[in-house]
Order: sequence, then C-alpha cells, then structure tokens
Amino acid sequence: MKSLKIFRPFDRHLHLRELLTLMKFVLEYSAKQFCGAVIMPNLKKPITTWQQAKTYFEEILYVAEQKGFHNFKPIMTAYLTDIIDPSNIEEGFKRGMWKAAKLYPFGATTNSDSGVTKIENIFKVLEVMQNIEMPLLVHPETDVSRYTIGFLDRERVYTDEVLTLIHREFPKLIMSVEQITTKEACQFVEDSSNNVVGTVTPQHIMYDYNAIFHGGVHPYKPGAYVENVCLPILKHPEDVAYIRNAITKGKARWKLGAGTDSAPHIEEVKLSHGSCCGCFNAPAAVELYTMVFEELGMFEDWEGIKVFEEFMSVNNLWIYGIEHSKETIELVKENQIIPELVPGNIRPFKAGQTIPWKIVS
Ligand code: NCD
Ligand code: ZN
Repeated sequence: MKSLKIFRPFDRHLHLRELLTLMKFVLEYSAKQFCGAVIMPNLKKPITTWQQAKTYFEEILYVAEQKGFHNFKPIMTAYLTDIIDPSNIEEGFKRGMWKAAKLYPFGATTNSDSGVTKIENIFKVLEVMQNIEMPLLVHPETDVSRYTIGFLDRERVYTDEVLTLIHREFPKLIMSVEQITTKEACQFVEDSSNNVVGTVTPQHIMYDYNAIFHGGVHPYKPGAYVENVCLPILKHPEDVAYIRNAITKGKARWKLGAGTDSAPHIEEVKLSHGSCCGCFNAPAAVELYTMVFEELGMFEDWEGIKVFEEFMSVNNLWIYGIEHSKETIELVKENQIIPELVPGNIRPFKAGQTIPWKIVS
C-alpha cells in the first residue's frame, strides 16, 4: 500500500502544558494531524475546578487560532484529588466545561503530587460521576507509597487491586484505562462490560523495555535514550505483542483507541537529575501508529484499513459525546526525518530517525 486515506484522527490523551511554558510550541504538531484531543489536566497547578478548565480551554483555543487551526477541538478534563469538590465536578460537567475526570494515583507519574492517595477518598465523586455518566480516565499505576513494587509491575498490581475494585464498586461508571502497557490491563478492558475502554500510545506498541537500555544508556544512541522513558514504562515483549494483537485482531478491538500521551519536557529537564518521564511523539504520532499497523499486515485489504481508521479516528469517542471527523487525511509511503530538536528545546520521540510514512494532506 503506497497511500491511505482515513478520517482525521482524534487524540484521546494529550499533554499541552501551560500557555506560558510549552503550549505555544507543541500545540501545532497535534493540531496538524488531529481534529481534536482529550487534554490532560496535570499542569504544574493542576486543573481541579471547572473555572480553571474554562481559562485553560480559552488559552488552548487562543493558541490554536493564532497558529491557524480554527477547527481543533480540545476536550477538557478534571484532575481528581483527595479533597476534590464533587459539586464542582458535576457543575463543570453539566456546563459542558469538562467531559471527564482523570485519576492520578499520588506520585505515580509527572505532576501527580496532588493525586489520589487512597481510592476510597474519591468514592463520593465516583458515585456522582457514575450517576451523571461522566467518564473516569485512569493512570493505571500504583502510588508512590508502594515504591517497593518495581516499575515493570506497577500497572499489573494496580489493575489487579484498584481497576477491578473501581469496576466492582461502580459497575456503570464509564472508565478509560489510559496508555495501556500490559497484557493484564488490556485484558481487564477486553473482559469488562462495554462501559470500560482504553487508550494505546505509539511508543508502547512499537518498543519494549529493551529500547531504553539497548546500546547502553547514552541519551543519544539510537534506541537508547531518555526520550523512550515514559510512564508507565515500556514493558515486556509479550505485553507489546498482546496489545498489538488486541488493537488489530482482538475480540474487543473496538474498545481500544489511539491516545498518544504526547508529553513534552524541555531537553534540560529530560537530561537532568530527577528527569521527567514522557515521550514527545506529537511531530509524527499518526505516522508512528501507521508503521505499526503496516508491520502487522493491516493494509493488505480494506477491512484492515478500516480497523486502523476506527482505532485512530472513531473508537471510544462516544464516551465524550462526540462524533468522528468527516474530513480525511492522506498518508503516503515516503520517508520523513524526525527533527533532533524542535522549538521550545524539546527532543521528540525518535529524534533524528527516518520513518517511512508522511501525512500529505
Ligand atoms: C506524562 C507527563 O509528562 O505529563 N508523562 C508520562 O510519562 N506519560 C504523565 C502521564 O501521562 O503519565
Ligand atoms: Zn499522559
């Protein structure tokens, strides 16, 4: 297949950062490819009230307009804390200011210091969300108090202990397990009721954990850089194989959709002690997914291309009450080089590498 046309994709998981930090540099990469995105609320000062979400929404639209993207649709989310006010969550949802709330276990990932320390602390708000049909998005890893659980095991343990508990206590709650990296979390989504869905990033279906260490730990050696370090950490080859199969041939593939988790950090921070986790994949996120689907033989017939289109542009949008874009994009089989650094001093995922697909319109 030399070219493909699909409905314009939608990014179900995106970090744009603040107006005064990186947003003005990074937004255009996403808006060029995607018709909209679910915007993560883990700013330095987390988005915990709908009033903050409104300001942030206006800032995003302002930057999108400035850059010439008049149709980019940000879907706002709330950041849940131990002391979150359920009535503000409900009011923001009823006003249409935000469409979901994100659960960050305390200290589990970047900017999660205000996250939830104990799931029971947010039971009241989960009950409200279940009643009003507001989706819960979950970062599925154990919190920092469980630091003795290794990086590679945190998602498995969290799935077993907490995801199952939430689903048992709130069986009708709409839930999206974000950036799935393990067979267990993927199976949890596949086997749970229809109101449980999940997102998948390009990095977690492209690489396993060897990509972090292969070739040594020099930050710039191909396949061995801090750009590959994101949370949850890249997983075992068997997990990668399971998820690749689940999104293309799995029985519940309609529950899994593209969420890039593009998470920019400036170079100095990435290379410093206490480096932040997160892959900035926005410059070619759609092409990266395309590479994986091609590798898996999905472009040999129209059925396969349709599965790709559904994954990129259609699946799970119902949880946000939105329709897929009717516009299309065209991808062609042509090399493109991912830049080493982009304005804002951010090193993208796969920096300096050549990839075989390109969006032409
Ligand atoms: C994200 C970030 O940098 O905000 N980092 C990451 O490694 N994925 C946070 C997150 O989604 O976990
Ligand atoms: Zn994220």
